[in-house]
Amino acid sequence: FLLGIDIGTSGTKTVLFDEQGNTISSALGEYPLYQPNIGWAEQEPEDWWEATRTTIREVLSKSGVQPSDIKGIGLSGQMHGAVLLDKEGNVLRKAIIWCDQRSWAECEQITSLVGRERLVEITANPALTGFTASKVMWVKNNEPQIFEKVRKILLPKDYIRFRLTGEFATEVSDASGMQFMDISKRQWSGEVLEKLGIEKDLLGDLYESPEISGRVSRSAAELTGLKEGTPVAGGAGDQAAGAVGNGIVRPGVISSTIGTSGVVFAFSENISIDPKGRVHTFCHAVPGTWHIMGVTQGAGLSLKWFRDNFCIEEKRTAELMKIDPYVLMDQEAEKVKPGCEGLIYLPYMMGERTPHLDPNAKGVFFGLSAKHEKQDLLRAVMEGVVYSLKDCLDIIKEMGVDVGEIRASGGGGKSRLWRQMQADAFGTSINTISSSEGGALGVALLAGVGVGLYDNVPQACDAVIKVKTRQEPDAAAVPVYSKFHSVYAQLYRSLKQDFV
Ligand code: XUL
Repeated sequence: FLLGIDIGTSGTKTVLFDEQGNTISSALGEYPLYQPNIGWAEQEPEDWWEATRTTIREVLSKSGVQPSDIKGIGLSGQMHGAVLLDKEGNVLRKAIIWCDQRSWAECEQITSLVGRERLVEITANPALTGFTASKVMWVKNNEPQIFEKVRKILLPKDYIRFRLTGEFATEVSDASGMQFMDISKRQWSGEVLEKLGIEKDLLGDLYESPEISGRVSRSAAELTGLKEGTPVAGGAGDQAAGAVGNGIVRPGVISSTIGTSGVVFAFSENISIDPKGRVHTFCHAVPGTWHIMGVTQGAGLSLKWFRDNFCIEEKRTAELMKIDPYVLMDQEAEKVKPGCEGLIYLPYMMGERTPHLDPNAKGVFFGLSAKHEKQDLLRAVMEGVVYSLKDCLDIIKEMGVDVGEIRASGGGGKSRLWRQMQADAFGTSINTISSSEGGALGVALLAGVGVGLYDNVPQACDAVIKVKTRQEPDAAAVPVYSKFHSVYAQLYRSLKQDFV
């Protein structure tokens, strides 16, 4: 058996798999997101650990599997978050996480300290509020009394690795998103670190994703029920992990994932950089390869916001029926015609990365008429997210990536309606694969490679991943989405000066 642990933004999901990739048992532990100011986003690392501990225990007890039969553990997690530890390994402040937008001034500082061209040459990306470097620089500039106590800077899943194994370590796919790495050499960049005044000792040891980075310690074994000494692989950032779990390990197959964020992800044999920096180029979890991804900040986040603020009734009914409220919301949205008669939503509630790189962008409803009802707004939210994914896809195509097959995944990928909107807006068929465990499966497979159950990552994917469904574009809807996507794009250009 293999265990995959995914430290997400809304919760931690722990899944036990057999060696064929079948789910044996799974558990989810949720935790809050703190937003002390507009555009700020923080979480408590102790909450992640608590959720990890309890979900491991739950998965073990539900499955009846002996801890000694677990061959390896893989860690996946939300990328970019800055977890700051003091010399005793205590957390110094809440983690500033991926969608926090406060560090725009630090992006300018990083660009001027390293030099715009040199920064892209080394880190393959421009400075962005989303990346860890600008978050760390924000603490350095604004909370010097905390910064001077920092002895380790870890990513969310790497903090869990520390709690599980006692090791300070990371791996190339997630570390790419810190912006402290030389992406072509797959190593920490001495030059960037020196120019930013960050000691290399503050960072963990850097592994390739399938490599074993440590073993479960005695104290973690007592707390989780795992066997002491179980190997923990490097794992991957949630996007690279999800890509492995969807078989995005060769040219031609790309994925479109709707989690809290939305991501279009393509495999790349070489480093390929968008000259405008609108998509990220990072190391892939397949050793010796890279990937390109477009990221939209407010994908599932937008629908969750709509659910929590406007679908109280649906939530109550779903609870009574013991079903997911999103199932009822899909039924409502399905009653509305594609295009919502000109009602358009811009999903920029947490600013936007691809394609605008604008931390100040905001969400918008445009084109409301008295005839529109709640279900129209609901469908418009889903369509707006799809337009933002189309922006990501278009740039990836512009970079010459071959798009042979698109696989939908993430929580949003479970919705047949949302997948159909993607097929119609992208004008391409959309597939799903048999396992919907994405990141957790991806890192379980990486651990399987690390402990020698599989020869390499593509072979592990071939052994367990099969295409399950295929949806074709609806010829009548394609031109509707194409027309409204142009309006959507124009809206941002018209409004961007006026977001406060
Ligand atoms: C990727 C990104 C998000 C987070 C949260 O660059 O910021 O996808 O990893 O899921």
